Amino acid sequence: MLHSPACERNQEPILGLLSQWLPPGARVLEIGSGSGQHAIFFARTLAGLQWQPSDRRENLLDLAERIGLEGRDGLAPGARVADPLELDVDQADHWPERHFDAVFSANSCHIMAQASVANLIAGAAKRLAPGGLLVLYGPFQDGGIHTAASNAAFDAHLRSLNPAMGLRDAMEIKGWAQAHGLSAKADLPMPAQNRTLVFQRD
Ligand SMILES: C[S@@+](CC[C@H](N)C(=O)[O-])C[C@H]1O[C@@H](n2cnc3c(N)ncnc32)[C@H](O)[C@@H]1O
Repeated sequence: MLHSPACERNQEPILGLLSQWLPPGARVLEIGSGSGQHAIFFARTLAGLQWQPSDRRENLLDLAERIGLEGRDGLAPGARVADPLELDVDQADHWPERHFDAVFSANSCHIMAQASVANLIAGAAKRLAPGGLLVLYGPFQDGGIHTAASNAAFDAHLRSLNPAMGLRDAMEIKGWAQAHGLSAKADLPMPAQNRTLVFQRD
């Protein structure tokens, strides 16, 4: 199965945060689920959690493998992980026509192009129930300034691989979110110079 060491390192701190912010029995849409480790880890702990993993087509087989093997047994009482959905944030018709209590995405904003991050925010805003949360985890910069040397190096590395990738600007993301009716609620420091940005639908 596809395995992400980063997921293994960050799942506990992210769980701590989700357990504080999500309402009981939350319906969560995850964007860019990757290996599916987060989906399984959170659903094993948070009772009643209704988790919808998703990713682009090229990652769906790996994702479906983990969800199929680990997503049925051993979950917390009432928790459920749905079959993964094909969802590219740039494709308007991929977004489900349902409402969610939260949209969550980890370490995806610096992988997708900047325009795709704007599409993620616009798409999430439409699918969030009133009061619903958009939760973005990863490394971000602020007003074009990196908050750590390690993040600057990571940004340069990503851009050398593909100029469309790179650390996104939290201030810019907050502006886009506000334009779509999402108020910035928290900007939380996380281990290894990462952050979690939390927005709430007005
Ligand atoms: C570094 S991986 C992170 C995976 C997982 N969330 C984690 O924390 O390990 C980045 C993810 O973003 C997804 N991604 C990139 N562009 C995307 C897009 N346009 N729409 C949806 N997902 C996208 C990739 O397919 C990949 O699963």
